[in-house]
Amino acid sequence: MNCLAPSILSADFGQLGTQIQMVDEAGAQYLHFDVMDGHFVPEISFGLPVLRSVRKYTDRILDVHLMVSNPEHMIAEYVEAGADIITVHAESCVHLDRIVHLIKEANVLAGVALCPSTPISVLENILPDLDMVLIMTVNPGYGGQTLIPYTLDKVRDLRSMIRKKGLNTDIEVDGGINLDNVSEVLDAGANIIVSGSSVFRGDINDNVEQFLEIMR
Ligand code: DX5
Ligand code: ZN
Repeated sequence: MNCLAPSILSADFGQLGTQIQMVDEAGAQYLHFDVMDGHFVPEISFGLPVLRSVRKYTDRILDVHLMVSNPEHMIAEYVEAGADIITVHAESCVHLDRIVHLIKEANVLAGVALCPSTPISVLENILPDLDMVLIMTVNPGYGGQTLIPYTLDKVRDLRSMIRKKGLNTDIEVDGGINLDNVSEVLDAGANIIVSGSSVFRGDINDNVEQFLEIMR
């Protein structure tokens, strides 16, 4: 099933609760929560206190994207704060297998994200243990960027790797996804669509409805 995951990084933080309720009521199945530590990526965004508040505003799937160094130290706290999925970057984990199992043992879904230039081959062995792979279609750290075209080849290759292994792993794509390119991204094999600026800029309700119509 195709799902929309609005990224609240692009929301108006002065009315975050209202805007979360808007995307929830418009039918977005996930809410994408971008944690940035100013070290793994240049920007600092938000973290646990905000997640605890956000959890109170929606029952949708809280999809936490950890763009942080050393994520292994914070898994339990993000689970406690209400994460349903925790995605760590392969590039920030020396012991990725151990961290993935730490997440799964906490009974939340485990995702691994790849920066644009990181080949999908790094996931070959651990793929059967993953619930989701997040293919970054921009360089992480900012909303409002343009999709990097070669990343769609990674989505296509990953979808065929999943099929060959007889798995049904979700592929989430994140960065620069808009109403004009979302069909191409779905055709490449993604089934969870993160979008920040194309949801939260302009008419939020209308943006979500248009995305969901295309994604049906
Ligand atoms: C970037 C984040 C993305 C970003 C998407 O590092 O991981 O989730 O918020 O924003 P848009 O859709 O505006 O590119
Ligand atoms: Zn993200």
